Amino acid sequence: MSDRLSAHVKPERLLARLQAMARIGATPRGGVNRQALSAEDAAAQAQLAAWGAERGLAASRDAAGNLFVRLAGARPGLAPVLSGSHLDSQPTGGRFDGVYGVLAAFEVLEAMRDAGFAPARAVEAVAWMNEEGSRFAPGMMGSAVFAGERPLQAVLDTRDADGVSVAEALAACEPALAHVPRRGLGGAVHAFVEAHIEQGPVLEREGMPVGVVTGIQGKHTFRVTVQGEAAHAGTSRRAERRDALLAATAMVQALAAVLHDQADVARFTVGRFEVSPNAPSVVASRAVFSIDLRHPDSATLRALGERVRPVCEAHAGPCEVSVERLSAADSLTFPDAMRARLASAARKLGIPHLALPSAAGHDARYLHAMCPAAMIFVPCRAGITHNEAEHAEPADLVAGTRVLADVLAGLAQEDAA
Ligand code: HGY
Ligand code: MN
Ligand code: MN
Repeated sequence: MSDRLSAHVKPERLLARLQAMARIGATPRGGVNRQALSAEDAAAQAQLAAWGAERGLAASRDAAGNLFVRLAGARPGLAPVLSGSHLDSQPTGGRFDGVYGVLAAFEVLEAMRDAGFAPARAVEAVAWMNEEGSRFAPGMMGSAVFAGERPLQAVLDTRDADGVSVAEALAACEPALAHVPRRGLGGAVHAFVEAHIEQGPVLEREGMPVGVVTGIQGKHTFRVTVQGEAAHAGTSRRAERRDALLAATAMVQALAAVLHDQADVARFTVGRFEVSPNAPSVVASRAVFSIDLRHPDSATLRALGERVRPVCEAHAGPCEVSVERLSAADSLTFPDAMRARLASAARKLGIPHLALPSAAGHDARYLHAMCPAAMIFVPCRAGITHNEAEHAEPADLVAGTRVLADVLAGLAQEDAA
């Protein structure tokens, strides 16, 4: 192919698809609510499959609910190149988190079609199921199952706050996706590249349109359940109460104190806090809260994680407490060779770029466990994300997609002699 594939990336097509996807699950304040395996999530997957069908790109779906759109390669025996991210969002999510990576990958497939580019290896755009972990915890379920890092059955048995299991939610999505053929789980992957907004302020502050991600910080997640006893707010004496809310809030405050670091590097978040029966005149019988704990240094993160259970137990008072660890992932560094590829592609395009770590988690974590993986970042305004005000500039979105195109084109011809 004489010219570079990036020359065939069509900015207006990419931006139009991002706008179309943003209408699926759109919220009144300009964001999206497309929680995993919701009708909106299924509609977004169906939309991607339909766009693929228009270009003769075959869609398929595995038992974990991951969606793939494939541009076949000349050498079917060679492992494919994958690129993508997620279509599910947080409840008050932005219009770019995840979906940009899926649509950037799809735009590359369209550019390949337009350029008459016949890759040796198949190239697949992928939407991983439940990256966000808001409805079903923990997140990154689809990519973890694909990579063999989490058993499918454990994922299928996971239930949301309403008691609906992943298996039941997958079945509910079936009507919208029944026409999409099924495929087996996992399989060899030659390489994986994920494009994503940075979800931090660095690229914008440095005036850089593209980031080459060095790695992803570690993350441990927990669910804490505090069991007390319901009682009358007026007649029950304090000395006799087993107040689950008071115990749980004491735990949260104690954890915040113990996990506080002056350098402000550790990230401790309680994002979900559920109280039962949640009635003004009833002493809380039960409280359940989430813990999301992160740190770039794995040993430090493990040491901080070990503090969680004893601190909760020390503040249980007259209540019972159970601390369930949902996930524990160390920090990771992407391969130098893959990072060099991304930097070289950006340099050849004359696109300024910067190496930086990811403080947010991504599906590339699990692909990194099974093949050479890399990530391309583009700036988002003031680093605002997991927020309906999330915004990314069209020129940056296009720049990231052009770098992605040339990287995927190179990978798709690799070792094909
Ligand atoms: O939580 C994360 O880091 C990812 O954005 N879901
Ligand atoms: Mn994301
Ligand atoms: Mn996210």
